[in-house]
Amino acid sequence: MRDDEAHLVVDYFHSRSPEDLATMGVDPVKIPEAAAWNARLREDFAQPVGERRWHFVVWEIDGNTVGHSNIGDLVRGQHGTMHLHLWRTEMRAQGHGTALVLASVARYFEVLDIDRIYCQPNAFNVAPNRVLFRAGFEYLETVETVPGFLNYRQPVTRWRVTRGMAENTPPTLGKKQ
Ligand SMILES: CC(C)(COP(=O)(O)OP(=O)(O)OC[C@H]1O[C@@H](n2cnc3c(N)ncnc32)[C@H](O)[C@@H]1OP(=O)(O)O)[C@@H](O)C(=O)NCCC(=O)NCCS
Repeated sequence: MRDDEAHLVVDYFHSRSPEDLATMGVDPVKIPEAAAWNARLREDFAQPVGERRWHFVVWEIDGNTVGHSNIGDLVRGQHGTMHLHLWRTEMRAQGHGTALVLASVARYFEVLDIDRIYCQPNAFNVAPNRVLFRAGFEYLETVETVPGFLNYRQPVTRWRVTRGMAENTPPTLGKKQ
């Protein structure tokens, strides 16, 4: 993602319905003020990839920007935690998620010095849990926690994929038959 696209992430969270935020377990009062958040993201984008706090990838379908994934909580040489967001609700539940997650995972392992990626969606949020399963992540556990700085305390499902697992993902995995 380019730094002049950071505002798309900010706009996305600021334009979500209360129901959408609840499905994701996002606490509306924790969403940072738009200008300050945009500036914080752009400041991070200006750092060398290996020193950034987060790494973002844009999701495109047929040349249109439709969402993003990002990875944070990076511990270099070890792991990070990824997030997934199709911005346009009309694009959801059409089978795009798994391919977008597989491409994001491949990109993170390509550019970041990590050997495993975690993802921990709200346990009741069906779509990301299904997508992670389809993308070859392994289920670890269901725990109650505050999974991110935008979230309140909630049950989450913890999933993990390792570099080796991702490299060995059969090309047919994730594709609906
Ligand atoms: C999570 C997300 C990226 C998944 O992408 P997607 O393209 O919608 O997912 P898919 O269409 O590939 O669906 C994957 C599976 O979830 C199911 N699913 C999708 N949306 C669903 C919904 N609203 N309710 C129930 N099941 C749903 C699909 O039927 C499919 O199931 P299957 O594997 O049994 O066939 C997308 O839904 C999204 O951005 N959601 C809002 C943001 C979010 O919740 N992010 C997670 C925060 S970590």
